[in-house]
Amino acid sequence: MKPRRLLCSTVVCCLALVATQCTRPASTDIPHLQKRGATTQLIVDGKPFLALAGELNNDSATSLEYVKRLWPRLVHAKINTVLAGVSWNQIERQEGKFDFSVLDGVIQGARNNNLRLALLWFASWKNGLSSYPPDWVKKDFARFPRAQTQTGKTLELLTPLSDANRDADARAFAALMRHVRETDSRQHTVIMIQVENEVGMNGDTRDRSPLANRAYEGPVPKELMDYLQRHKETLIPEFRQVWEAAGFRTSGTWEEVFGRSIATDDIFMAWNYARYVGRVVEAGKAEYPLPMFVNAALIRSFTIADAAKMKPEPGTPARSFNAGGPMDDLMDVWRAGAPRLDMLSPDAYGNFAEYCARYTRSGNPLFIPESLNMAVGAARVLYAFGRHDAIGFSAMGAVERSNNPDTDLIGSYDLLAQLTPLILQHQGDGTMSAVLLGPDDPPQKVRVGNYTLEAAFMKPRVAPLTQPTPIPPNTFASAIFIAGGPDEYYVAGSGVILTFSPNTPGPPLAGLATVEEGSFTNGRWVPGRVLAGDSTEEGESIRLLWAPGSWVPVYRQRASPDAIQRVTLYRYQ
Ligand code: DGJ
Repeated sequence: MKPRRLLCSTVVCCLALVATQCTRPASTDIPHLQKRGATTQLIVDGKPFLALAGELNNDSATSLEYVKRLWPRLVHAKINTVLAGVSWNQIERQEGKFDFSVLDGVIQGARNNNLRLALLWFASWKNGLSSYPPDWVKKDFARFPRAQTQTGKTLELLTPLSDANRDADARAFAALMRHVRETDSRQHTVIMIQVENEVGMNGDTRDRSPLANRAYEGPVPKELMDYLQRHKETLIPEFRQVWEAAGFRTSGTWEEVFGRSIATDDIFMAWNYARYVGRVVEAGKAEYPLPMFVNAALIRSFTIADAAKMKPEPGTPARSFNAGGPMDDLMDVWRAGAPRLDMLSPDAYGNFAEYCARYTRSGNPLFIPESLNMAVGAARVLYAFGRHDAIGFSAMGAVERSNNPDTDLIGSYDLLAQLTPLILQHQGDGTMSAVLLGPDDPPQKVRVGNYTLEAAFMKPRVAPLTQPTPIPPNTFASAIFIAGGPDEYYVAGSGVILTFSPNTPGPPLAGLATVEEGSFTNGRWVPGRVLAGDSTEEGESIRLLWAPGSWVPVYRQRASPDAIQRVTLYRYQ
């Protein structure tokens, strides 16, 4: 090629590259996570954002005709963020050839309905198996090997020990993130990415394929040992216990370092899943560094420290507990293996309060990708945001698991939408909290600002000679409280009785000065009724009546559309 032409084309290429680099948005312009005091916030369009979310059923977003009829339901449900699956098999039917036409339609559909998206990368793994890889992966099991159990059974599960599996997934994920950047980095419809879905192995406590056995008999990788030594004093206690029990060795085989137990199998699998997912995340973030998380199936009902006491007994049926999954007590292993992953997120269907506490340890930001909807979800979401500064809460199958609008969850999402400016202002500074109470839970005391609040589950009165109203199973009362000033609170919720006592020097008693019921419109307080008398038990307590349509008699249900109360207190003796 003539030198002059060569020079021109080189210049043109450079310009193109610079152009792409120039068009690459700065990481602070795109949706990202940002520390705020003791917490982390999701920033979208430069502002903190609360994800009031709902997850579509697994394959709803693989057809534009199918998803079209869901957008109005999602909007009606006061959802602002939709968790939608992206199937590897759908976008890369042929190796190296990508088709994003359906995804483009989903992004456009969300945009048209003023909704944000969290995309769920259904690729190598989904619920501990591999149903989403493309056919060219599934069929070529020599090139893309599977995991095996101790009986030699091959599972429909891509082994995390294979570089070929990992690299194929990472290439496709990078293509996806490049496409999202090219089509959405100015609009920010896509705000977060879930990488894989509920990874982990069932049917055995670890992969026993030749690849896996070789790695298991080899040394624990230096990267993991370096991480553990660097973080020795801040490791999750249950995990540290396992390493300590084996003598805090800094090198050796897996069993030498962690002992011979199913805990070591779980740790070994966690490392290999994390390394694999970590590479996929890095490939995706190199294209478009949106916040990325993994979701956890909370199947293992015992801690990793308990697992260390469970020795694998040859011939006994292997335990199945989603080995290697991102359980809270394996957070250190996941962080060491996938340093660019932003969050480990619990699919918290049961023991909600416990898992919120466990997954906010060690500074892990809380995002709940999957939980229950209806009245239970309506109670839980207040707790996740108010008590644990959650970034977001999502009900699984939010608008697809019932044809009737979920009035309970809609009520809570509407409430949280009103309170969003206040919540974002008070996250991470100790001036906000919440309670989640079952009927048998004792009243809970919570310090918020200058007062301690005592919250009790509100039961219907039992009239003489009558039976108490039976409390349906899985009934929860919940409330959120925000200190709007030294003696002022905004409180909201369902089925909670609140009393206040000062926790600062001065007159020991707290009384209700003025109590207004009301709502927020665009962050501005719009007062409704002024409450006293029966509404505050003659000034004795704040009563957050049960949501309309709840299990209680009507007189205990909130009649007013205004679900928030502004309480000002005074001190006396
Ligand atoms: C948890 C998974 O993450 C979801 O994708 C879905 O399979 C639910 N279980 C069950 O519907």
